Amino acid sequence: MEKFNIAIDGPAAAGKSTVARLVAKQLGFVYVDTGAMYRAVTWKALQSGISPERKEQLSRMASELRIELLPGEQSQQVLLDGGDVTDLIRSAMVNKNVSAVSAIPEIRRLLVAKQQEMAQAKGVVMDGRDIGTHVLPDAELKIFLTASVKERAQRRFLEMKAKGEDVTLGQLEKEIAERDKMDEQREASPLVQAEDAVLVDTSGMSIPQVAERILELAKSAASKGIR
Ligand code: CDP
Ligand code: CDP
Repeated sequence: MEKFNIAIDGPAAAGKSTVARLVAKQLGFVYVDTGAMYRAVTWKALQSGISPERKEQLSRMASELRIELLPGEQSQQVLLDGGDVTDLIRSAMVNKNVSAVSAIPEIRRLLVAKQQEMAQAKGVVMDGRDIGTHVLPDAELKIFLTASVKERAQRRFLEMKAKGEDVTLGQLEKEIAERDKMDEQREASPLVQAEDAVLVDTSGMSIPQVAERILELAKSAASKGIR
């Protein structure tokens, strides 16, 4: 299949990264998890004791970071200045602070430039919040992936329990709803469905079913000819 770009946006725990990785593998495309980049900056800020209110200091720090995304078996491997932070960036502290850090326009500008560079050669499946609206407005296929908050919290709950983490379903539902609200209401590139995105509500759908639906859409986009 000729190479083209697929943008997958949507709220937390909608299944974006799981499905994007599967779709990329099937198509022989490259998967890019942009949330991991915002998480890596947030982790570094917490490590360095810089609070999200110190926007200038944070932006300066972010501009000096080297973030690398490498394909991994289960998830994408994330390197920060050469060190592996793949698991560290999924902590509860990062979850709590990442939306505030990613609302800073200068941080977005820096990361969006990196993301656009990664997609330049085409053949990328990129997931995030603003990919179809802002990062890759010309992506040949745009998907807005969602599911009810209850179902998304339940999915994350099972995932965290399997990792042995001590969380309750109620806590997760609250955290996810708060993060969605911040991502939707921020001024810089809020989470919103692009006008030309296809809405896929994954409530009650299994991972293979969602991947199959997106692959169908990809085949249809490819057969219509790439813009
Ligand atoms: O996996 P999960 O949906 O929980 O989150 P993520 O995709 O890892 O993204 C973490 C956070 O990064 C989001 O809640 C957003 O605040 C931010 N983000 C963003 O602002 N723009 C993106 N393109 C991707 C993530
Ligand atoms: O990237 P995003 O935050 O949108 O979601 P994810 O990390 O890919 O998926 C969150 C959790 O939901 C993972 O544990 C997936 O295995 C699970 N999932 C599911 O149970 N059913 C789906 N249709 C999609 C994801």
